[in-house]
Amino acid sequence: HEMDFTHCFKDDMECSHTREAPEGSADTWHNCGCEHHTSAQSRLFIKGGRIVNDDQSFDADIYIEDGIIKQIGNNLVIPGGARTIEAKGKLVIPGGIDTHTHMQLPFMGTHAVDDFYSGTKAALAGGTTMIIDFVLDQKNVSLLEAYDKWRNWADSKVCCDYALHSCVTWWSPEVAKEMDILCKEKGINSFKMFLAYKDVFMLEDNELYEVFKRCRELGALGMVHAENGHLIAEKSSEMIQHGITGPEAHEMCRPEEVEAEATNRAITLANQANCPLYIVHVMSKSAAKVVTKARRQGKVVFGEPIAASLGTDGTHYWNKCWRHAAGHVMGPPLRPDPTTPGYLMDLLANNDLQVTGTDNCTFNADQKALGKDDFRKIPNGVNGVEDRMSVIWEKGVHTGKMDPCRFVAVTSTNAAKIFNIYPQKGRIAVGSDADIVVWNPNASRTISAKTHHQAVDFNIFEGMLCHGVAEYVMTNGHVVLDEGQVRVTQGMGRFIPLPCNSETVFSRIRERERTTKPCKVEREPYDGPVAKITATQMSEKMIVADNPIIPNNAEFHGRPMTSSGARNLQDSTFSLSGQQIDEKSPRRSTTRSLNPPGGKSSGLW
Ligand code: URP
Ligand code: ZN
Ligand code: ZN
Repeated sequence: HEMDFTHCFKDDMECSHTREAPEGSADTWHNCGCEHHTSAQSRLFIKGGRIVNDDQSFDADIYIEDGIIKQIGNNLVIPGGARTIEAKGKLVIPGGIDTHTHMQLPFMGTHAVDDFYSGTKAALAGGTTMIIDFVLDQKNVSLLEAYDKWRNWADSKVCCDYALHSCVTWWSPEVAKEMDILCKEKGINSFKMFLAYKDVFMLEDNELYEVFKRCRELGALGMVHAENGHLIAEKSSEMIQHGITGPEAHEMCRPEEVEAEATNRAITLANQANCPLYIVHVMSKSAAKVVTKARRQGKVVFGEPIAASLGTDGTHYWNKCWRHAAGHVMGPPLRPDPTTPGYLMDLLANNDLQVTGTDNCTFNADQKALGKDDFRKIPNGVNGVEDRMSVIWEKGVHTGKMDPCRFVAVTSTNAAKIFNIYPQKGRIAVGSDADIVVWNPNASRTISAKTHHQAVDFNIFEGMLCHGVAEYVMTNGHVVLDEGQVRVTQGMGRFIPLPCNSETVFSRIRERERTTKPCKVEREPYDGPVAKITATQMSEKMIVADNPIIPNNAEFHGRPMTSSGARNLQDSTFSLSGQQIDEKSPRRSTTRSLNPPGGKSSGLW
């Protein structure tokens, strides 16, 4: 039986059951549903490999049926009809999870050229079996409508499993309501906010704080693109005024100090809201240091370097070839300090940073050329979804910085834990999805746009020799990378809902919610004298109230009391006018006199 199947599978063109994939796909469609193929595809036996999870590795065989790992061990007794994949001398690892992609994103007047088909096909070719993409629509568009749009785009095209993050680019009570529905009914457990792209996607700090509070209530993870949109807008204009219009200006108007500032600001606001935070695309040493320091202070924050920041650097922006330089433009930019990738890899190896994505958002040369005379119009985004696994193996494992277990942790397991789909994903275990890569640590390949599976015509890792190659890739038990051939069907991937309240993310948060709840001081009511405000003072107060730089008393408390009755800690305790929030308190050491001895110099002091 096995022989029959092997013949059929390997010599596919001879199989009468083979038919062409739906329009738009050049691949042969194996998933024809005939009994022969169905039974053959549903039973797999991976023999002789070394299984690597994040916490241990061991030699064992794996038996898979109906897309699920059914048995792991030696001398397994398995039903007939299984295809055997020989894995001797190879590592058998959980398929990669790319936490950050933007397939077919409409952005900067155009749209990303890798769509959910070419993007996920390329992902599989490189050993990534799941992506998490971002629902990112215009400001003021309903989050639910945007979600439906992304689901429609993705469901019909994805070749691997996928999930979604939702982006919050504007704030209103309606958005708060929709966040609830997304969490409870739509499989969303993370919301990303931008501190860049002023007037397009950017939130102001007060709005960001509100969204963080909502995330915490819902058990969702806050995510932030950490830059300073106001400063970028200012500095971009300065570049143009200086006559610097090329891609190097893109980096110079967004120096890493600014990424670090925004990272610190986001962490501070999230911590004040007791909201767990995930910093997407950590691009610089400075930002990574901020994340590291915050984690060591006990803040619940995760950092995501990407294939680009781990595998290349921003010196390319100074390349004499405009297309080459523009091909690297993304936000936040790659950093010109060439020690950046190695530094980020060190932190990733040692758990200062935890997860890896790619921010895959690709644009062809003609699209990048929209900014040929003005760097501000170069569509931001680079590739990575296909090469992430190889780049991290090459720069992380092949260099001796991390062992294969850590490689698995940072390419899949930690993502599965943070986004609450572990151990369905991110682990080789009985009951887990059969998203598996047979990884050959001794093979090598050279990355090139000429041979990659992505639709984009450029590759930021061009010419990189990578040791460590995906030899077989299985998604839900389907062998989709098979002896060098990528065999996929559009729409064969599934949407994976991400449940809220991930234990990895929220257990500390919930405990802190309990232990840091503001408590009021129980005391007898004050029964001493209370100053009277005279008519003169009242009329003076009117003058004060009319002055736009001095708030009147009624408006002083900008925020309501917290639910427990405590002063909202976000209310400032002072005002620039000298009027103090606690000025009625008998314990104030100084009081302002409206009629000081010697007469007042003005009504305003
Ligand atoms: O340059 C980038 N990163 N493009 C995609 C959008 C984003 O900021 O993540
Ligand atoms: Zn971003
Ligand atoms: Zn992104």
